[in-house]
Amino acid sequence: SVERSFIAVKPDGVAKGLIGEILKRYEQKGFRVVALKQLVPTKELAEKHYEEHKERPFFGELVSFITSGPVVAFVLEGKGVVAAARLMIGVTNPLLSNPGTIRGDYAIEVSKNIIHGSDSVASAEREIALWFKTEELLQ
Ligand code: CMP
Repeated sequence: SVERSFIAVKPDGVAKGLIGEILKRYEQKGFRVVALKQLVPTKELAEKHYEEHKERPFFGELVSFITSGPVVAFVLEGKGVVAAARLMIGVTNPLLSNPGTIRGDYAIEVSKNIIHGSDSVASAEREIALWFKTEELLQ
């Protein structure tokens, strides 16, 4: 069924010049970009986004990294996009991500893994509402 997913190119992905490459992969796959913006996330936004990792030892590092520079946030729409976008991203650890995936091709460190993608339809709904106003999304 037609779903929406929240994707963010993290500061390391932007610094490596990967915005175009990442958008190109999703566009060519056939997903529709229904919202897109670049911003330096506030600490408040970052803490809400990573709320499920609040108790992890790396939470502070995670928040300081994601707020360290510009992030390109976008929303994709299409059939099965939540799971498909994650398959195209690879697994959390870039060294275990298959070649051909975004992390498999462009990253090494788990803490600098280039991109975020929603892990479920429920997470996508929460994250889209956190990062975007309703009027920033195409119908
Ligand atoms: P992401 O998919 O954005 O969601 C949670 C993030 O936590 C994950 O990507 C990693 O970048 C980060 N992460 C996971 N494990 C560790 C770790 N051991 N040390 C630092 N960051 C981590």
